[in-house]
Amino acid sequence: MSKLQEKRKSSESGSNIKVSPARQQEMNKGPMKSVFEVENLNLWYGSNQALYEISMQIPQNQVTAIIGPSGCGKSTYLKALNRMVEMVPSVKTSGTIKYNDQNIYKDKLTVEYLRTKVGMVFQKPNPFPKSVYDNVAYGPRVHGIKKRAILDQIVEKSLKDAAIWDELKDRLNENAYSLSGGQQQRVCIARALAVEPDVILMDEPTSALDPISTLKVEELVQELKKKYSIVIVTHNMQQAARISDNTAFFLNGELIEYADTNKLFQNPDDKRTEDYITGRFG
Ligand SMILES: Nc1ncnc2c1ncn2[C@@H]1O[C@H](COP(=O)(O)OP(=O)(O)OP(=O)(O)O)[C@@H](O)[C@H]1O
Ligand SMILES: [Mg+2]
Repeated sequence: MSKLQEKRKSSESGSNIKVSPARQQEMNKGPMKSVFEVENLNLWYGSNQALYEISMQIPQNQVTAIIGPSGCGKSTYLKALNRMVEMVPSVKTSGTIKYNDQNIYKDKLTVEYLRTKVGMVFQKPNPFPKSVYDNVAYGPRVHGIKKRAILDQIVEKSLKDAAIWDELKDRLNENAYSLSGGQQQRVCIARALAVEPDVILMDEPTSALDPISTLKVEELVQELKKKYSIVIVTHNMQQAARISDNTAFFLNGELIEYADTNKLFQNPDDKRTEDYITGRFG
């Protein structure tokens, strides 16, 4: 049967349901898988509630941006995903967070495993006061990898994936503190990649960087989403619009709107989203 005949046959045997080309494209991609499914998440610091009834899915191999005014709970939400928020002793939570269908609080999933799989990059580059090599090899060493040849491979691959190998391959023994801020941030990304995570949480990773380093990290994020799922907090609307597939708008601890990035920026459903993205508040 020719391709054309096949096409005709399948359209004849199909139902009468018509779908838009965009929808068809979506369907061809198959069902979207979520790495995180958050349901009715509430979070308190002592008696102060910081997150209210957050329900949100994080799709696999996409970039999800989180925007919203200072203090609205973006970092708190991000740190809830890998349980880093529990480092604050007064924190209490309710609701469920599932990582790849496993409840991160209930199922047999240890905090160590979760934090390995769900890495984090912070606003200020925070390398250890060690060589570039030792920074990147740190996580694998903690996991018991001792052989130099294997560590060499991991360090090279992670620095390549973080788009900084060419800049640093002759400076691996230099202290990471001697690098520029943009280089330090990419070393921190390499350090996160070295333990083979699945999700990378980025909390304003470019806010301390110059425009060129920012561009490098933005390009890197586009590359990384082929292998990883990325959640990025940003105060920069253009950045969210440029690099993300989905955007969530938080306000006062609530998730106000969560949509395809183009839709959220061009045609938001909620007046508060529109006010925020057009700079009327925040
Ligand atoms: N360690 C903490 N102890 C007590 N309250 C905290 C703590 N960290 C954050 N909060 C409170 O939780 C709320 C949300 O803070 P969070 O840091 O998540 O906001 P954010 O959206 O990331 O803000 P920004 O854009 O300024 O980084 C704020 O009211 C903040 O004061
Ligand atoms: Mg924050």
